[in-house]
Amino acid sequence: MLEKIRRDVEETFADDEGRLAHVKGVVATALLLARKLKLDRRKTLVAAYLHDITKNISVKAHKALIKEYYPEEALADLTPPLYHALSAAAYVRKFYGIDDAETLRAIGSHTIGRPRMTPLEKVLFLADYIEPNRPYPISKEVRTIAFNDIDKAVFTAIDHSIRHFEKEGGHVPETAYAARDYYAPKGACHG
Ligand SMILES: [Fe+2]
Ligand SMILES: [Fe+2]
Repeated sequence: MLEKIRRDVEETFADDEGRLAHVKGVVATALLLARKLKLDRRKTLVAAYLHDITKNISVKAHKALIKEYYPEEALADLTPPLYHALSAAAYVRKFYGIDDAETLRAIGSHTIGRPRMTPLEKVLFLADYIEPNRPYPISKEVRTIAFNDIDKAVFTAIDHSIRHFEKEGGHVPETAYAARDYYAPKGACHG
């Protein structure tokens, strides 16, 4: 199955070099983090390869996939650029028959995180944020933290994203705020 997944990803992003490079960067980074945390290598590979598989489908297609597996409310808190996490989780259930809850959760929360993430969720969330093709200085900073203190890295990434979206005037999902509160170092205050 891993070979098929790898081939499918290459085909899906045959015309999207940047995305393919990103996915490969996420795979490599997720494997490094997973090894450090002694996580299942196969599950990590499946989640990392498939996390963005629906990235380039239409909004209508995202919604249709999500509605098959998630309650109506799941969409309400999200903006369209965030749909692909849930639609990718739905896609891997539907087309690969993957029903492992941890894998589906990791794919489903890779964009904004959530409180009480499992180790695999944190690994994928961070790998997506820090993989070497990410050009932002904050990605480098979080990368350094991730290999020392994974929860602190999660907090730093979410906090930075929230501040960025607030500055841009974009919608910040409630789940992102809840995740930031959950991972905030004790005594921290966000104004
Ligand atoms: Fe993504
Ligand atoms: Fe990604």
